[in-house]
Amino acid sequence: MDNNNPDTPVIFVLFGGTGDLSRRLILPALFNLFLDKQLPAAFALLVVDHNEISMADLTEHYRQGVCDHSRSGNPAEAQWRNFAQFIHSTQLELDQKEGYASLAQQLHSLAESWPQAPQIIFYMATPPALFSVIGQGLGEAGLSSDHLRTRIVVEKPLGHDLESFRNINTILGRYFEEMQIFRIDHFLGKETVQNILAMRFANPIFEPVWNRRYIDHIAITVAETLGVEQRGGYYEGAGALRDMVQNHLMQLLCLVAMEPPVAYDANDIRNKKMDVMHALRPIPYDQVPQFAVRGQYTCGWLNGAQVPGYREEVHVAPHSGTETYAALKLFVDNWRWQDVPFYLRTGKRLAAEVSEISIRFRDVPHHAFPATAGLNAQPVRLVIQIQPEQGIVLKFMAKEPGATLRLRPVNMSFNYQEAFDMPSPAAYETLLNDVMQGDATLFMRADQVESAWQLLLPVIQAWGDNPAADFPNYAAGSWGPESAHDLIARDGRSWLTPTVGTPPPCHNDC
Ligand code: BG6
Repeated sequence: MDNNNPDTPVIFVLFGGTGDLSRRLILPALFNLFLDKQLPAAFALLVVDHNEISMADLTEHYRQGVCDHSRSGNPAEAQWRNFAQFIHSTQLELDQKEGYASLAQQLHSLAESWPQAPQIIFYMATPPALFSVIGQGLGEAGLSSDHLRTRIVVEKPLGHDLESFRNINTILGRYFEEMQIFRIDHFLGKETVQNILAMRFANPIFEPVWNRRYIDHIAITVAETLGVEQRGGYYEGAGALRDMVQNHLMQLLCLVAMEPPVAYDANDIRNKKMDVMHALRPIPYDQVPQFAVRGQYTCGWLNGAQVPGYREEVHVAPHSGTETYAALKLFVDNWRWQDVPFYLRTGKRLAAEVSEISIRFRDVPHHAFPATAGLNAQPVRLVIQIQPEQGIVLKFMAKEPGATLRLRPVNMSFNYQEAFDMPSPAAYETLLNDVMQGDATLFMRADQVESAWQLLLPVIQAWGDNPAADFPNYAAGSWGPESAHDLIARDGRSWLTPTVGTPPPCHNDC
């Protein structure tokens, strides 16, 4: 729930301010909030880094980041100059007490002339190993003690497994209250993801059929054409399960499966998501292969270009066992969803860039049409398109024009761009604005993250104990490994081709 006045002064303290995340996502988002007049007049961005960097270099580094990554393109000279006045920087040894005392002093001086005490946001755009160090430094310097005016923002990955997540959380929890900790999952800031709740709960027509009686299964696909780019160092220790499933895909599952909230507020929504997490059927260690499969891409062709295999990427071990693809079959054991499978899949270097949730309805109970009419009969499917297409498509059967009775699948579509003649904010804009407003609705609560790790623990352990013998097992530009096909085919179902996507080109000479 909002607990801030939008005019309250804000100091945004950016740890790891010279890193890639800051340049690519945080600065463009702050700049767009500034352009949209969403930043308070009394605002300061205090960039903290262990390296010394001149203000001129820092502002140019950020301006370039905005040019390269902002949805509003190159900033106008005057606008950038006005924004750049907010930027301050400081060098700090993150593991030394004195640094935090001087940070406290700086925060005090920045706000000295402001009419009101500021909200102070500590944003951890650093490697996760530093979350605890910085949290402790801030806490011991007394910088977290004002529970209403200070917040800490942490990015995923929150830990490497259940135990490491608990360690981070215990340390943060020593100095910050849960209401002060904002755990970012940027998928929750996407318009199309937020729209899942609007679609389900602002319309009366979906709820009556949103259950095991009408739904056969749900498939969640987050497919990327990108490889690991320059992030091999991080990705080697993460893999698709930790990088995508533990957070983004679990959040999508919760939004689709949760019960209606009583109120659109942080606690109620997060409680309803937790109910889903509680109801997820545990995966027994000795049955992991029946519920989870993994893949790693080899070289292949994408959009007409040859791309290297994962093991040839920068900072990746030549015999790496890290998965770049993961697919899971999950069940939500409650009255609404008992025995309805939720199939989740995500991977890098797949045939198309597409994220969507496909809700496949049950077949009609009785086929009244003659067999000749329904040769192409397909069960009704509702597709929530998250990206790059943004919208909702209902695929259903219609009569083809003509004297002969023939049925054909057709689409009824809602598309964001067509329906609303206005630009969508980037996910980070929404999320940073919410942090400043103290609205935690779109952030992950500790218990949710913890239960996601708990659910995946047997898979992490089984995969760790049994290195994949068949890696690499899918070609870049394909739809993933054969085992993912088998995972769903064993249930007599199949992954349906996403609503956008180009078939993989037919080359095998890489
Ligand atoms: C990040 C992952 O959280 O999400 C990346 O670390 C992934 O590996 C990215 O590429 C996908 O996000 P988006 O918004 O580009 O779909």
